[in-house]
Amino acid sequence: MTLLQVRDLQTHFATRSGALKAVDGVSFDIAAGEIVGLVGESGSGKSVTGFSILGLIDPPGRIIGGSVKLEGRELVGLPNAELRGVRGRQISMVFQDPSATLNPVLTIGRQMQLALEAHEKTSEAAMRARAVEVLERVGIPDAARRLDAHPHQFSGGMRQRVAIAIALLNSPALIICDEPTTALDVSIQAQILTEMKALARDLGTAMIWISHDLATVSSVASRLLVMYAGRIIEEGPVRDVLRAPRHPYTAGLIASLPAHAVPGRDLVQIPGSTPSLFDLPPGCAFQPRCTYAQAGCGVMPNLLREENRAVRCHFPLNGSGS
Ligand SMILES: Nc1ncnc2c1ncn2[C@@H]1O[C@H](COP(=O)(O)OP(=O)(O)OP(=O)(O)O)[C@@H](O)[C@H]1O
Ligand SMILES: [Mg+2]
Repeated sequence: MTLLQVRDLQTHFATRSGALKAVDGVSFDIAAGEIVGLVGESGSGKSVTGFSILGLIDPPGRIIGGSVKLEGRELVGLPNAELRGVRGRQISMVFQDPSATLNPVLTIGRQMQLALEAHEKTSEAAMRARAVEVLERVGIPDAARRLDAHPHQFSGGMRQRVAIAIALLNSPALIICDEPTTALDVSIQAQILTEMKALARDLGTAMIWISHDLATVSSVASRLLVMYAGRIIEEGPVRDVLRAPRHPYTAGLIASLPAHAVPGRDLVQIPGSTPSLFDLPPGCAFQPRCTYAQAGCGVMPNLLREENRAVRCHFPLNGSGS
C-alpha cells in the first residue's frame, strides 16, 4: 500500500541571484513500513525534500509546485493548523542535531508529555507510561527515573535516542530521519542504525533515511533514491543499485565507498565538484563531471522507469556496475 506519494515536488528559495531550485521536480512513493534511503552529496536537496514533505519550508523558500499525498490526503497547501496535526503524529522527523528537537530547559518527561498532549489528551499516568515505553524501546536504561532528567544530562548518543523516542511517541506511519547518526561515534552509529531498522520492522513504521553516506543508507534502507542537484537521478532496490548502478553518478558514489578501497591507494573520487545550483549546464546536471558524457547530454534526460528501477540518463550503464 502506498503511504506517501510525492509528485513533481518543486521547492525554490528566492535569493538575490534569482530562484534557487533546491528541489526541482522530485517524484517518489513510499510504501507502508518501507525504509527508503535518500542519498546524495551535500546541497543536493535531501533535507529540503524532507522539510517540504512536512510543510516546514519558510520564506524565502516556498513549495512552488507538485504534490505530497499522505494516504491520499494532499499536504501541499494545507493550513498550518492542519499540518501541525500531521507533524509528530502521522509523520515525524529526527534531525542530525537532537537539540533541534529537545528543549534544554525542560525535563525529558515534560517534553514527552507536551508532544503527546499536542495530539491527544490522556491521563498523566497514561502519558508517563507511554513515555517510559518508548524510551525503553530506544534503549534508554532506567527510563522511568530518566524522565526527570534534562537533555544535558544525557550523552550525545543517548540524547539522539531520546529524540528518536519523541519521534515515536504518537506511533507515526512515517519517520523522516535526516542524518540522525552522522554526528555520533561510529560504534554508536552502528548500534542506532541496527535498532532503528528493528524498530521500523516491529512497529511497521516507514522511514525516509537521509544521508550523504551511501554506506550508512545502504545498511538500513531497502530501496535507494539518489539525488543530484535537486533531482532524483536513480532509484531502485539497494542491492540491485549497489550491484549494478545505472547512473554514472551512482557508479561514482559506489566506487568511492571505503569498502572498495585498494590498500595503499587513494580512494576513487568522482572528478570535479558539486555544481552550483545557479550555474547548472543545460541538460543533465552531472554532465560536466561525467566520463560518459556525449553531445546528447545537453538535453535534460527524463527519469526513465523500468520495473522497479529508474534512471535519469541518456546513456545508462548496462549492469556490469562499471
Ligand atoms: N533557507 C535557505 N535559504 C536559501 N537556500 C537554501 C536554504 N536552505 C537550503 N538552501 C539551499 O538548498 C539547496 C539544498 O539544500 P539541502 O539542505 O536540502 O541539501 P542537503 O542535500 O540536505 O545537503 P547536506 O548533505 O549538506 O545536508 C542548497 O543549495 C542549499 O544551499
Ligand atoms: Mg541536509
